[in-house]
Formats: sequence, C-alpha cells, structure tokens
Amino acid sequence: MTDPQPVPNPRTPETEQPPRTFDGFTFGSATAAYQIEGGAAEGGRTPSIWDTYSHTPGVTEFGDTGDVADDHYHRWPEDVGHIARLGLDAYRLSISWSRVQPGGSGPLNPEGVQFYVDLLDALSAAGVEPVVTLYHWDLPQELEDAGGWPARETAVAFARYARLMAGALGTRVHTWTTLNEPWCSAYLGYASGVHAPGRTEPAAALAAVHHLNLAHGLAVAEIRDVLGADARVSVTLNFHVVRPQDPASQADRDAVGQIEALANGAFTGPMLEGAYPERLLTDTAAVSNFSFVRDGDLALIHQPLTVLGVNYYSTTMVRHSPAGDATSDNSGHRESAHTPWVGADRVAFVREPGPYTAMGWNIAPDALTGLLLDLSRRYPDLPTMVTENGAAFEDTVSPDGRVRDVRRVGYLHDHVAAVAAAREAGADVRGYFAWSLLDNFEWAWGYERRFGIIRVDYDTLERTWKDSARWYQRLLARRELPAVDDVD
Ligand code: FCB
Repeated sequence: MTDPQPVPNPRTPETEQPPRTFDGFTFGSATAAYQIEGGAAEGGRTPSIWDTYSHTPGVTEFGDTGDVADDHYHRWPEDVGHIARLGLDAYRLSISWSRVQPGGSGPLNPEGVQFYVDLLDALSAAGVEPVVTLYHWDLPQELEDAGGWPARETAVAFARYARLMAGALGTRVHTWTTLNEPWCSAYLGYASGVHAPGRTEPAAALAAVHHLNLAHGLAVAEIRDVLGADARVSVTLNFHVVRPQDPASQADRDAVGQIEALANGAFTGPMLEGAYPERLLTDTAAVSNFSFVRDGDLALIHQPLTVLGVNYYSTTMVRHSPAGDATSDNSGHRESAHTPWVGADRVAFVREPGPYTAMGWNIAPDALTGLLLDLSRRYPDLPTMVTENGAAFEDTVSPDGRVRDVRRVGYLHDHVAAVAAAREAGADVRGYFAWSLLDNFEWAWGYERRFGIIRVDYDTLERTWKDSARWYQRLLARRELPAVDDVD
C-alpha cells in the first residue's frame, strides 16, 4: 500500500487529551464465514450446524438464515477493495470448515480451498495481513450428528482439518486462530440452546468445553508441525468482565468467582496454565465429574501461543441468589428457559447501568482497559490483540445517502482510547479489530442487528460506508485517535 497522507484535523478541541499514537500497532476489522459468505450450497460446501439451526422454524429472528448473507462468496473482490481503501493493516476472517472439507472428514475440497487462496492472495496484494480463524461456530453437520463437541472424536476431526488447512494455506496466513469464543460454542450451543446446534444438556456443555480445549491444543500442535515452531498461532476468547452488585458482599464476590471460572478459567486454565480451575470442578460437581478429561489431555491443551485474542463488548454484573431463583442469565444473547451458566443456579444476573447498544449490552470502555491490564499481569509473556470490539445500533440512511452512525463512532473511539490507555499503563496489546467490516448475519438475531462499519442493503447487497468507516480510515491514516466528529 502507498503511504497514507496525514489528514489535517482542525476540529480536535484544544482541551482534548494528548494524541495517542499507534505506531507499530495493528488495526484491522473482523468477520466470520457464516455471517458474511452466503454461497451456502455452492462450490461443494455442505451444511454446517448453523445452516441446520437457522433453517429450524422459530430459532432466528424472522427465520433469517446465512444462505445469502452478504454474498461475500461472490463479492469478495469488492470487499477486499473496501479493506484496502480503509487502509486496514490486517483482516480477520474465518474459514467455513464444510466448504473446505465437506462433511468434516476426508480430503479437502479443491474448489472450497481455492476460494480462500484467492481471497488471501488478494489481501496480500493489498498489503493486508490475514488473521484466519479455523472455527467460528460452523461445525459440519455430520460431525454434530456423530455427537458434536461433547464427543471427543470431534476434537480429533478438528485437528485433522487444521493440519490440512495449514498445508493448503501455509504462509498465506499471517496469524492462525484455532477457535473463536469457545464459551459460545459450548454453553450457548449445548446448555442454553440459543446457538447451534440448540441442545440444552448442561453435562454435554461441559464435555463440549473440554473437547473444544482439546481441539485447540491438538490444532496448535498440528499447525506448528506443518509450518514450523515459528508459526503464529492464537485463540480468541470472549472474556467476561464480571463485577459484584455489592462489592462489600462476600456472597456476591463469590458469585463473581463462580462465573469467572465458568466463563474464563474453563478456557484460560487448561490453555494457558495447564489445569482446570479447582472451583470449576467443585461448582459443577453435581452436573459432571469431568471424567471426559483423560490422562495427558491437559498437557496437549497447554500449548505455547504467539498472541491471545480478546473479544470484548460489555461487562457482566452478578449477585448471590440465596433462593436459587435466578433464571435470567443476562448473557446478552437471546432469551432461553435454559441457562448457559451450568451449575450456577445461585447466581443472579443484574442489569448493568447504561448506556446500552441495540443488543442491550452496556457500554463500558474502562473495563476493556482493566481486562487488558489484568491479562498482561497474569500472562506477562503473552501479548494480546483485541480481535473483536464494536456495537450494533439502529442505523438510518439519510436522504443524502450518508449513515451518520455517531454512536458507533463514539463506541469505537472510546474503546480504541481504552486500548491506548492499557498500552500506556504497560499492557502488551498488539492490535485492535473492529467488529465488523460489514453488517451481517448476527446469529440468532439474524439481520436485525447491524454491527458493520460498512452498511449492507440486504435487498441489493450494495455496500455503503457509514461514518464509522470514514472515521476508522482516518484513524488508520493518522495513527492517532481522531475526534468523534472528525468524519467529513
Ligand atoms: C461475538 C461473535 C461475533 C459477533 C459478535 C457481535 O460473540 O464472535 O461473531 O456475532 O459477537
């Protein structure tokens, strides 16, 4: 890419904080295969659990599916053009497993692989580093039919797939990510049932946690076996920043510990420390004895990582619920009669103070600073990268065609500033990826929640830059945080 010219910024008020610079920092934007690709039955792709789930009546808003989504499968050259014009340093995408390996087993499908080869080559030609996630929730349906993530064999199948993809894509990939948010795959997919495959079996959800961890560890080893010890490998977790309703209450603080173990420690424990947190095992003892953990598993899962992906949107507040009357989970996802919080029936979820996004998620950028500092203290040798952060709001198209999404600009501004604050305080944060490049299929919410910095008209599939895209472009060009109204 050519060197970006600095854009003058006459509007920044003199009282504004000193400019926060981002030299050497990676700015990107993120998407996921099922949310944008469409082309669901093309090029040899077979159904994933999200195809099956979204086609089940009543589970997604208005019955929306990812059949067409943003039609990125056909429009990717245009989308790479947007990425290049934005000036992104990196682009985080995911691979549709059933596109490259139909059914989740057997040889690779050359047509499916070629789609990603072409995409990665185009990104590379535009000077953009691809960060590639192998699993963003779209398990091949056949593997679910054989037991899904609660079955150990799924982790083995994932390792085979990872090995094949490392061979097929090789150094085209700048950074590999094994899993995106295994918390969602396990607990929303198998406990609350608001994500595919929609099962509501708490014990199976814990088995899924372990087999996702195992899948991660096995895949890291396979990628390094194929590409060498220097291959850049990561995982993306959605850390829950959990706060007590009454900080003075021991019972509320204990509830925080229980949710932290389920949400964070269940993954960071085995992946980064080599053991499950003790309290996870005791808190869930009535549901599972963890007999699915075999000798040697924890060593297989505990692999060195190059960078830790952090997805952050909002915070979680809890209190102790003596009556065990807590049914609301406040997880920020669709309501379910079944809780994703396995074994936590004495924890109640409290609505956080606003402001809120259109998801009902509270906006709390300070908590991102705290999270990044906390992670850098806990894992001082492991740099972090914010692999998702962004906001859904109800966008309107002005008569002049502009989408003045000032609240999204404000959200991005405040969270990028929060990352800068963490860096200034010593956290080793290497990158920030805005979720999302495009409006897309927001899982159970279908097309009703728009996170994109680029608008997608779902009738015409036309892409239009929102003001947030203009603002982000300016940030990238200057490497300094522009004011919120600096979008002309
Ligand atoms: C995350 C997912 C991503 C998107 C955002 C809003 O949990 O990883 O696909 O849906 O939330």
